[in-house]
Amino acid sequence: MMKDSSYNIDNIIVEGSDLYIVLDQRKNWITKAISGKQFHCHKGFFDYDDIIGKPYGSRVETNKSATLSIYKPLPSDYLSKLTHSSQIIYPKDAGLILMNTGIAPGSKVIETGTGSGALTSILATYVKTDGHVFTYEIREEAFNTSTKNIQRLGLESYVTIKNKDASLGFDETNADAVVLDLGDPCEVIPHAHTSLKYSGTIAVFLPTYNQVEKVYTKLQEFHFGEIKAIELIKREMQLKVNAIRPNTRMIGHTGFLIFARKLYQEGEECR
Ligand SMILES: C[S@@+](CC[C@H](N)C(=O)[O-])C[C@H]1O[C@@H](n2cnc3c(N)ncnc32)[C@H](O)[C@@H]1O
Repeated sequence: MMKDSSYNIDNIIVEGSDLYIVLDQRKNWITKAISGKQFHCHKGFFDYDDIIGKPYGSRVETNKSATLSIYKPLPSDYLSKLTHSSQIIYPKDAGLILMNTGIAPGSKVIETGTGSGALTSILATYVKTDGHVFTYEIREEAFNTSTKNIQRLGLESYVTIKNKDASLGFDETNADAVVLDLGDPCEVIPHAHTSLKYSGTIAVFLPTYNQVEKVYTKLQEFHFGEIKAIELIKREMQLKVNAIRPNTRMIGHTGFLIFARKLYQEGEECR
């Protein structure tokens, strides 16, 4: 086998490895490598045994001579394949949440609503293996879908999903971060304040301007500091030699994000 610095044991496809299989920009799949079985698509099939033992980044030919690239799935690849009934967070917004909340391995995070568990899965990927995400979802259907999605991604050890109304409060305290993506975040901000540790961060995803104003006012009422609001606009590029330019179509709006940090008030009991 070839040996170089980009070739190490963590990078080898083994029995049960998650695979991101790419034919082209539009046709791609997430599956698992199972010895003795085959991967099938409209361009033919290949045996998983042909790639087990090879590094991620390998290519394989189907019986119909189509070339498929095999990658290690990224959080954004998993996101694109999740079953969802409610609007899920976009990777660009999830990235901004991670950067501005400081969520990292070991973090204790509270989230609501869970929805399909898309954002939950990203948060869990970043807090593992010592951290945990406690997520609240009021609708039973969404609770069931998100539970299945989190299990499918193998993240259940890092996530506790509760079928509960977050406006009644959180069971957890001393959280490093609280992330809100639900219809009325103002109802939950007082509970977020109680559950956060001092200097802990809150992130609120909001689709409209009037909600930004309401949340801003509420965060001030609860004496949060470092309040900032961000809209991140993403433009993808057409990659075609002699015609490199932004795509003509784009998603014009996803939402706004408000971030803030919990201040310590002189005289409060220290948490
Ligand atoms: C837009 S979805 C969240 C999507 C999620 N961020 C994702 O990426 O999949 C909003 C969710 O909040 C839930 N929700 C609304 N009010 C709630 C409450 N008071 N407590 C818990 N969940 C609530 C809704 O049922 C819905 O599933």
